[in-house]
Amino acid sequence: MRVLVTGGAGYIGSHTLVELLGQGHEALVVDSFSNSSPQALDRVRELTNGWFESEEADIRDTDRLTAAARRFRPEAVIHFAGLKSVGESARRAVDYYDVNVAGTVSLLRAMDAADCRRIIFSSSATVYGEPQYLPFDESHRIAPTNVYGQTKAMAEQLLTDWARADEGRAALLLRYFNPVGAHASGRMGEDPRGVPENLMPFLAQVAAGRRDALRIWGDDYPTPDGTGVRDYIHVTDLARAHVAALARAQAVTGAEAYNIGTGHGVSVREMLGAFQRVVGRDLPHEIHPRRPGDVAEMRADCSRANRDLGWRAEYDVDDMVQSLWAWQSANPYGYGAPPQEG
Ligand code: UD1
Repeated sequence: MRVLVTGGAGYIGSHTLVELLGQGHEALVVDSFSNSSPQALDRVRELTNGWFESEEADIRDTDRLTAAARRFRPEAVIHFAGLKSVGESARRAVDYYDVNVAGTVSLLRAMDAADCRRIIFSSSATVYGEPQYLPFDESHRIAPTNVYGQTKAMAEQLLTDWARADEGRAALLLRYFNPVGAHASGRMGEDPRGVPENLMPFLAQVAAGRRDALRIWGDDYPTPDGTGVRDYIHVTDLARAHVAALARAQAVTGAEAYNIGTGHGVSVREMLGAFQRVVGRDLPHEIHPRRPGDVAEMRADCSRANRDLGWRAEYDVDDMVQSLWAWQSANPYGYGAPPQEG
């Protein structure tokens, strides 16, 4: 298929691009590079020997997007482009709505102009908010507790209404749990700017000597070891879920939501232990109070994705940590030069 990939240079976009090209799909990447590096696309080229086009553009630039879509004539879009930091989303609320919601409106206008009727959307388990029960299934109420989550929930609603507004349209909403790890080659991975907020990139930077110690946000949760439990998913498994969703989007109409995780909960202490085993030494860590807004546990019921997409996660925690460490140790500063802030 011809697939237009927004945000294809980002962490999940670049890994998905490798899987898409590996399956013989053709791609046009549209990325503004505002929070990603063109080097990620060079690495995709190197890993796949694949050929794809790329265009530097902001998804809010409807005219550019429309021209690109009319020229490329995509049969489907995979929409990753967006702002994704929970902490920052409170401070830059209008920017988050502009990029994540208005940007999606702009993309749909370009798709309509090019008569493209299928979209796979990069959503998040954060749309569920506080768990009413676990594991989350897709019928759990949608009640995000932060601005980032609100923008994802609004974009989901928008895509659902778009899909229902005309015959033959399909919108598949993939609700990611906690994506981690890196490509098996060690050539691609997550490249956060500034101090990482998320556990795994922070832990990797502690192991690499860029940060002094991991701060464990709370060890008094009602979980087996007191630390927060999450459903971490290897980025390559997640990438493959998009390829499976693409096949599904050819066969169905309307909107469908899918949880994408492993279904297994892993605590912060367990992750730290796994990382220490892989690097072969203890890593400095400190216990701190709970981080505001965090929940004790998040875990996915992925049976719908297993059944309808014919997809399931294959990689385990050791694969996640080993691949992340291979990437981090070979590329201590990601795709760029050592930053000034140290
Ligand atoms: C966060 C976002 C979520 C987003 C996801 C991306 C919130 C409330 N949610 O999820 O919307 O989709 O990132 O992967 O921010 N932890 C530490 N020390 C650290 C960092 C994290 O102990 O330095 C703990 C947290 O308390 C949590 C676990 O590690 O228990 C995972 O945290 P994190 O990687 O930030 O992901 P989430 O908070 O689950």
